[in-house]
Amino acid sequence: MREGCYACHSQMVRSLADEIDRYGPYSLASESAYDHPMLWGSKRTGPDLARLGEKYSDAWQVAHLTDPRAVVPASIMPAYPWLMQPLDTSGLSGALATLARLGVPYDAAMIQGAEADALAQSRPDSAAAEAFRDRHGDRPALRAFDGDPSRLTEMDAVVAYLQSLGTQTAAAHLAQEGTAP
Ligand code: HEC
Repeated sequence: MREGCYACHSQMVRSLADEIDRYGPYSLASESAYDHPMLWGSKRTGPDLARLGEKYSDAWQVAHLTDPRAVVPASIMPAYPWLMQPLDTSGLSGALATLARLGVPYDAAMIQGAEADALAQSRPDSAAAEAFRDRHGDRPALRAFDGDPSRLTEMDAVVAYLQSLGTQTAAAHLAQEGTAP
Protein backbone atom coordinates (compact mmCIF):
# COMPACT_ATOMS: atom_id res chain seq x y z
CA MET A 1 0.00 0.00 0.00
CA ARG A 2 2.79 2.43 0.89
CA GLU A 3 4.64 1.99 -2.41
CA GLY A 4 1.50 2.11 -4.58
CA CYS A 5 2.11 -1.28 -6.23
CA TYR A 6 -1.67 -1.58 -6.70
CA ALA A 7 -1.56 1.32 -9.20
CA CYS A 8 0.12 -1.06 -11.68
CA HIS A 9 -0.81 -4.52 -10.35
CA SER A 10 -4.23 -6.08 -9.73
CA GLN A 11 -4.98 -8.98 -7.41
CA MET A 12 -8.12 -10.10 -9.19
CA VAL A 13 -8.21 -12.84 -11.82
CA ARG A 14 -11.48 -12.39 -13.66
CA SER A 15 -13.60 -15.32 -14.86
CA LEU A 16 -12.51 -14.93 -18.48
CA ALA A 17 -10.85 -17.79 -20.37
CA ASP A 18 -7.72 -15.85 -21.37
CA GLU A 19 -7.15 -14.62 -17.80
CA ILE A 20 -7.53 -18.11 -16.36
CA ASP A 21 -5.11 -19.43 -19.00
CA ARG A 22 -2.54 -16.81 -18.07
CA TYR A 23 -2.88 -16.51 -14.30
CA GLY A 24 -4.74 -19.56 -12.98
CA PRO A 25 -8.11 -19.99 -11.25
CA TYR A 26 -10.30 -16.88 -11.10
CA SER A 27 -10.39 -15.03 -7.78
CA LEU A 28 -13.05 -15.82 -5.16
CA ALA A 29 -14.50 -13.18 -2.82
CA SER A 30 -13.42 -15.28 0.17
CA GLU A 31 -9.76 -14.89 -0.80
CA SER A 32 -9.77 -11.17 0.01
CA ALA A 33 -12.30 -11.28 2.88
CA TYR A 34 -9.62 -10.22 5.37
CA ASP A 35 -8.03 -7.48 3.24
CA HIS A 36 -8.67 -4.01 4.73
CA PRO A 37 -8.61 -2.28 2.34
CA MET A 38 -8.83 -4.78 -0.50
CA LEU A 39 -6.08 -4.44 -3.14
CA TRP A 40 -7.94 -5.69 -6.21
CA GLY A 41 -6.62 -2.76 -8.26
CA SER A 42 -8.26 -1.36 -11.36
CA LYS A 43 -5.43 -1.25 -13.89
CA ARG A 44 -2.64 -3.57 -15.03
CA THR A 45 0.55 -1.95 -16.20
CA GLY A 46 2.25 -5.10 -14.88
CA PRO A 47 0.77 -8.59 -14.45
CA ASP A 48 -1.92 -9.62 -11.96
CA LEU A 49 -0.34 -10.84 -8.71
CA ALA A 50 -3.22 -12.87 -7.21
CA ARG A 51 -1.48 -16.21 -7.92
CA LEU A 52 2.11 -15.00 -7.53
CA GLY A 53 3.08 -16.93 -4.36
CA GLU A 54 6.05 -19.29 -4.85
CA LYS A 55 6.17 -18.60 -8.62
CA TYR A 56 9.72 -17.24 -8.21
CA SER A 57 12.44 -17.75 -5.59
CA ASP A 58 12.94 -15.25 -2.76
CA ALA A 59 16.26 -14.26 -4.35
CA TRP A 60 14.48 -13.43 -7.63
CA GLN A 61 11.96 -11.24 -5.78
CA VAL A 62 14.74 -9.40 -3.92
CA ALA A 63 16.74 -8.84 -7.13
CA HIS A 64 13.62 -7.71 -9.01
CA LEU A 65 12.46 -5.23 -6.36
CA THR A 66 15.99 -3.85 -5.95
CA ASP A 67 16.49 -3.39 -9.70
CA PRO A 68 13.78 -4.84 -12.00
CA ARG A 69 15.99 -4.47 -15.10
CA ALA A 70 18.64 -6.74 -13.58
CA VAL A 71 16.30 -9.72 -14.07
CA VAL A 72 13.78 -8.47 -16.69
CA PRO A 73 15.79 -6.26 -19.08
CA ALA A 74 12.74 -4.68 -20.78
CA SER A 75 10.91 -3.94 -17.50
CA ILE A 76 9.43 -0.49 -16.89
CA MET A 77 8.73 -1.23 -13.21
CA PRO A 78 10.30 1.27 -10.77
CA ALA A 79 13.14 0.09 -8.46
CA TYR A 80 12.56 -0.09 -4.70
CA PRO A 81 16.09 -0.36 -3.25
CA TRP A 82 15.10 1.33 0.02
CA LEU A 83 13.10 -1.76 1.02
CA MET A 84 16.41 -3.05 2.44
CA GLN A 85 16.01 -0.64 5.36
CA PRO A 86 15.08 -2.04 8.81
CA LEU A 87 11.42 -2.90 9.30
CA ASP A 88 9.71 -0.73 11.92
CA THR A 89 7.65 -3.24 13.91
CA SER A 90 6.50 -0.83 16.63
CA GLY A 91 3.00 -0.39 15.20
CA LEU A 92 2.32 -4.07 14.48
CA SER A 93 0.36 -5.03 17.60
CA GLY A 94 -1.87 -1.99 17.19
CA ALA A 95 -2.44 -2.78 13.51
CA LEU A 96 -3.40 -6.38 14.29
CA ALA A 97 -5.73 -5.24 17.08
CA THR A 98 -7.48 -2.90 14.64
CA LEU A 99 -7.79 -5.64 12.02
CA ALA A 100 -9.21 -7.98 14.68
CA ARG A 101 -11.95 -5.43 15.39
CA LEU A 102 -12.79 -5.54 11.67
CA GLY A 103 -13.23 -9.31 11.85
CA VAL A 104 -9.78 -10.69 10.99
CA PRO A 105 -9.32 -13.74 13.25
CA TYR A 106 -6.19 -12.63 15.14
CA ASP A 107 -6.36 -13.84 18.76
CA ALA A 108 -4.93 -12.09 21.81
CA ALA A 109 -1.67 -14.08 21.71
CA MET A 110 -1.08 -13.18 18.04
CA ILE A 111 -1.73 -9.49 18.77
CA GLN A 112 0.55 -9.46 21.80
CA GLY A 113 3.26 -11.46 20.04
CA ALA A 114 3.14 -9.54 16.75
CA GLU A 115 6.57 -7.90 17.05
CA ALA A 116 8.29 -11.09 18.22
CA ASP A 117 6.59 -13.06 15.44
CA ALA A 118 7.72 -10.61 12.75
CA LEU A 119 11.31 -11.14 13.89
CA ALA A 120 10.88 -14.90 14.21
CA GLN A 121 9.38 -15.30 10.75
CA SER A 122 12.67 -14.31 9.14
CA ARG A 123 14.82 -16.39 11.58
CA PRO A 124 14.00 -20.06 11.02
CA ASP A 125 16.68 -21.34 13.44
CA SER A 126 15.77 -19.11 16.40
CA ALA A 127 13.95 -20.25 19.54
CA ALA A 128 11.26 -17.68 18.75
CA ALA A 129 10.46 -19.56 15.52
CA GLU A 130 8.84 -22.30 17.62
CA ALA A 131 6.55 -19.81 19.35
CA PHE A 132 5.66 -18.45 15.92
CA ARG A 133 4.60 -21.96 14.79
CA ASP A 134 2.51 -22.38 17.97
CA ARG A 135 0.63 -19.19 17.26
CA HIS A 136 0.29 -19.34 13.48
CA GLY A 137 0.50 -23.02 12.53
CA ASP A 138 2.43 -24.53 9.61
CA ARG A 139 1.06 -22.52 6.73
CA PRO A 140 2.94 -19.16 6.86
CA ALA A 141 6.41 -19.48 5.33
CA LEU A 142 9.24 -19.01 7.82
CA ARG A 143 12.64 -18.17 6.34
CA ALA A 144 15.14 -15.37 5.72
CA PHE A 145 13.20 -13.83 2.85
CA ASP A 146 15.77 -11.10 2.13
CA GLY A 147 18.60 -13.66 2.25
CA ASP A 148 20.02 -12.65 5.65
CA PRO A 149 18.53 -14.02 8.91
CA SER A 150 20.51 -11.56 11.06
CA ARG A 151 18.43 -8.54 10.00
CA LEU A 152 14.72 -7.76 9.63
CA THR A 153 14.05 -5.48 6.69
CA GLU A 154 11.04 -4.14 4.82
CA MET A 155 12.22 -6.45 2.04
CA ASP A 156 11.58 -9.45 4.36
CA ALA A 157 8.01 -8.23 4.87
CA VAL A 158 7.26 -7.50 1.21
CA VAL A 159 8.75 -10.77 -0.07
CA ALA A 160 6.93 -12.77 2.65
CA TYR A 161 3.72 -11.09 1.53
CA LEU A 162 4.34 -11.66 -2.19
CA GLN A 163 5.20 -15.32 -1.59
CA SER A 164 1.91 -15.78 0.30
CA LEU A 165 -0.33 -14.46 -2.48
CA GLY A 166 -2.78 -17.14 -3.58
CA THR A 167 -1.35 -19.73 -1.17
CA GLN A 168 -3.46 -19.11 1.94
CA THR A 169 -6.38 -21.21 0.71
CA ALA A 170 -6.86 -23.78 -2.06
CA ALA A 171 -10.52 -22.72 -2.38
CA ALA A 172 -10.15 -21.20 -5.86
CA HIS A 173 -8.36 -24.27 -7.20
CA LEU A 174 -10.94 -26.60 -5.63
CA ALA A 175 -13.90 -24.54 -6.81
CA GLN A 176 -12.61 -24.76 -10.36
CA GLU A 177 -12.38 -28.50 -10.42
CA GLY A 178 -9.35 -30.26 -11.81
CA THR A 179 -6.94 -27.43 -11.06
CA ALA A 180 -6.08 -28.34 -7.46
CA PRO A 181 -2.39 -27.49 -6.85
C1 HEC B 1 4.70 1.79 -12.84
C2 HEC B 1 4.10 0.48 -12.77
C3 HEC B 1 4.57 -0.51 -11.71
C4 HEC B 1 4.64 -0.35 -10.36
C5 HEC B 1 4.32 0.90 -9.55
C6 HEC B 1 5.03 -1.61 -9.81
N1 HEC B 1 5.19 -2.54 -10.81
FE1 HEC B 1 5.63 -4.51 -10.57
N2 HEC B 1 5.67 -4.75 -12.60
C7 HEC B 1 5.42 -3.77 -13.53
C8 HEC B 1 5.65 -4.29 -14.86
C9 HEC B 1 5.48 -3.52 -16.16
C10 HEC B 1 6.03 -5.64 -14.70
C11 HEC B 1 6.42 -6.66 -15.82
C12 HEC B 1 7.93 -6.57 -16.08
C13 HEC B 1 8.73 -7.13 -14.93
O1 HEC B 1 8.59 -8.34 -14.61
O2 HEC B 1 9.50 -6.37 -14.30
C14 HEC B 1 6.02 -5.89 -13.27
C15 HEC B 1 6.30 -7.14 -12.70
C16 HEC B 1 6.19 -7.43 -11.35
C17 HEC B 1 6.33 -8.75 -10.77
C18 HEC B 1 6.56 -10.06 -11.55
C19 HEC B 1 5.19 -10.68 -11.81
C20 HEC B 1 5.23 -11.93 -12.64
O3 HEC B 1 4.28 -12.75 -12.51
O4 HEC B 1 6.16 -12.14 -13.43
C21 HEC B 1 6.20 -8.60 -9.42
C22 HEC B 1 6.28 -9.70 -8.38
C23 HEC B 1 5.98 -7.21 -9.15
N3 HEC B 1 5.97 -6.52 -10.36
C24 HEC B 1 5.81 -6.66 -7.90
C25 HEC B 1 5.67 -5.30 -7.64
C26 HEC B 1 5.64 -4.73 -6.32
C27 HEC B 1 5.73 -5.50 -5.03
C28 HEC B 1 5.51 -3.37 -6.48
C29 HEC B 1 5.52 -2.31 -5.41
C30 HEC B 1 6.63 -2.35 -4.48
C31 HEC B 1 5.42 -3.11 -7.90
N4 HEC B 1 5.54 -4.30 -8.58
C32 HEC B 1 5.23 -1.86 -8.47
C33 HEC B 1 5.00 -2.48 -13.25
C34 HEC B 1 4.93 -1.89 -12.00
